Amino acid sequence: MSHQVRGVVAGGKGAEVHVETIVVPDPGPGEVLVRVKACGVCHTDLHYREGSINDEFPFLLGHEAAGFVETVGPDVTSLAPGDYVILAWRAPCGECRSCRRGRPWYCFASRNAVTPMTRADGTRLSPALGIGAFAELTLVAAGQAIKIDPAARPEAAGLIGCGVMAGFGAAVNTGAVSRGDTVAVIGCGGVGNAAIAGASLAGARTVIAVDVDPRKLEWARRFGATAVVNATETDPVEAIRALTGGHGADVVIEAVGRPETYKQAFLARDLAGTLVQVGVPDPSMTVELPMIELFGRGGALKSSWYGDCLPTRDFPLLIDLYLSGRLDLDGFVSETITLDQVEEAFARMQRGEVLRSVVVL
Ligand SMILES: NC(=O)c1ccc[n+]([C@@H]2O[C@H](COP(=O)([O-])OP(=O)(O)OC[C@H]3O[C@@H](n4cnc5c(N)ncnc54)[C@H](O)[C@@H]3O)[C@@H](O)[C@H]2O)c1
Ligand SMILES: [Zn+2]
Ligand SMILES: [Zn+2]
Repeated sequence: MSHQVRGVVAGGKGAEVHVETIVVPDPGPGEVLVRVKACGVCHTDLHYREGSINDEFPFLLGHEAAGFVETVGPDVTSLAPGDYVILAWRAPCGECRSCRRGRPWYCFASRNAVTPMTRADGTRLSPALGIGAFAELTLVAAGQAIKIDPAARPEAAGLIGCGVMAGFGAAVNTGAVSRGDTVAVIGCGGVGNAAIAGASLAGARTVIAVDVDPRKLEWARRFGATAVVNATETDPVEAIRALTGGHGADVVIEAVGRPETYKQAFLARDLAGTLVQVGVPDPSMTVELPMIELFGRGGALKSSWYGDCLPTRDFPLLIDLYLSGRLDLDGFVSETITLDQVEEAFARMQRGEVLRSVVVL
């Protein structure tokens, strides 16, 4: 059987997204059907609409979601209807060369549902990040549905499925921020502020928030920034150095995805410091750096895919932090909206008015 439900589709490069009837089949082997309760609007959804991820239009957008398992595929034993889950865009396969080496958080062949979801006319949809959760129902691989404590409300819990995990993990897993470190975060949207929260919980001594929007900097203080820098008023590299005894930060997290902010992050590190790139660049972007500085500064230049997370390990942990009042997930929920308002939410995101607009179904 298949289900006709409402979903948000990006039909072509740069075109406005809209709600249409989509067809979601029942789960095949290894798959589960999930009734989505809430799904955050992430900048990556906008990147998909802009055609800067790939050109496999039409996309079924949305990938930051929590909901309830509706039905499970024939051989699925790990989940049952009614289970409360966050959807993950990484479900380690256990068999690729990275999983076999004991590094499932990099899994190079992460699992997704293989049974296609389609438009009403039968055109196959590409679900954003293998999820597609701006829809009443979505189909994912069983390994993508991570059971969590139902006490966490879906609007907040769903954000762990992408932005919060990506930012938090960029600081804690990829950047390995630890007690006494100095940290700077460039770009304080949903992802950057989660990196600030992660760095703060990990015991960083100094957490510097950099953004071009004063509202974002105000929010950054709430998540644990000890100093803020408005990059439209002050040179961020100079400011970060000044706030770290003239040296630069131990870890600088780039959460914008632009060559100029990457370069700032590179230059704002202390010797032997770590740059963590989380922001997603457009494929046309390039960055030029003096090779002597690459060598002379030492340290590490890292990229963080999904905060190097292991969803089965990290999602329940972040939920525990939330439920015990140590991670303010509610602070990321700027507004709740309906499926029909995703295009407006993109505009609000671009105007810097929100950390997260969350679609509630
Ligand atoms: N690596 C991953 O796994 C992963 C996961 C999720 C999102 N992302 C990416 O992370 C980035 C941030 O996502 P988001 O949802 O927080 O987006 P967002 O639009 O909410 O936040 C971006 C922030 O950057 C700020 N900014 C823009 N230009 C700046 C500049 N020159 N200097 C300083 N700040 C500047 C904006 O004011 C905004 O606050 C996006 O590129 C997104 O695609 C990556
Ligand atoms: Zn794998
Ligand atoms: Zn995302």
